[in-house]
Amino acid sequence: MRVYCEADYDHVSRVAANIIAAQIMMKPDCVLGLATGSTPIGTYGQLIRRYREGDLDFSQVHSINLDEYRGLSPENDQSYRYFMNKHLFDSVNIDKKNTFVPDGVEEDREKACRDYDGIIRSHGGIDMQILGLGHNGHIGFNEPDSVFEKGTHCVQLTESTISANARFFASADEVPKEAYTMGIQSIMQAKKIVVIVSGESKKEIVKKAFMGPVTPQVPASVLQLHSDVILVGDKAALSEYVG
Ligand code: F6R
Repeated sequence: MRVYCEADYDHVSRVAANIIAAQIMMKPDCVLGLATGSTPIGTYGQLIRRYREGDLDFSQVHSINLDEYRGLSPENDQSYRYFMNKHLFDSVNIDKKNTFVPDGVEEDREKACRDYDGIIRSHGGIDMQILGLGHNGHIGFNEPDSVFEKGTHCVQLTESTISANARFFASADEVPKEAYTMGIQSIMQAKKIVVIVSGESKKEIVKKAFMGPVTPQVPASVLQLHSDVILVGDKAALSEYVG
C-alpha cells in the first residue's frame, strides 16, 4: 500500500485529486468508482478547478457510485445522486448518462441490486475506486460483520445511523430505513483503490483497518488484501498509522 501523509485536509484533497486526474489522463474513458460523504468534497472541488482551468476532460469518463438510500428520488436533496450532481457532475463536462448511482426509487430490492451489478459488469469493472472510511470501519454501506463475498445488496440502516441522519430531514420518520450499496466483493474487484481520510476522529479506525487483523468486524480491513491501494490522509488521521 502506498501512503501519502499530508499536512491538512486541503493538501489531502489536492493529492487525491492529482491521483484521480492522472487516472483520467492515462485512460480518458476510465470507470471511476465514486463516494459521497464529507471527505471527498474537497477532492471533487479540486477536480472541478482543474476542469475549469482546462487541464482535465471528463467527456469520456464513466462513474459508478458506491451507494444510495432506498426510497429517495434523485431530486431529494438528501439523495446521493443529488450530492454527486451538486459536488461534481454539474460542474464538469461529464455526460450524466455515463454516471451511475443505485436506483433509490426502485422498490424491488433484488432488481435494483441485480441491475447495478449488471452496470458494473457491463463497464468491465472499476478502474479506480474512491473510498471514505466510516468511524466503525464501514466502506460504502458495508457495516461491521458484512459478508466480504457480496455484490450489490440492500442493507437495513442501524438505529444509530437513522438517528444520526435525522438532523438532515424534517422528521425522523422521513429518514430512509434502507440503502443499496455496492458490496465488498465489487469494491475489491476494482483495479485500484484510493482511500481518503482526514481528521483526528479517524485515527483509531485507520490503525484498526490498516494495521489490525483482517476481519468482517472492520470491513475496511479487507483492503489489506488488495494489491493496489493508495491511502491519502492528513497527519491527524494518520497519527496512529506506522507504515
Ligand atoms: C459514501 C459512503 C460512506 C462514507 C463514510 C465516510 O458514499 O459510502 O461509506 O465514505 O461514511 O464518510 P465521511 O467522509 O463523511 O467521514
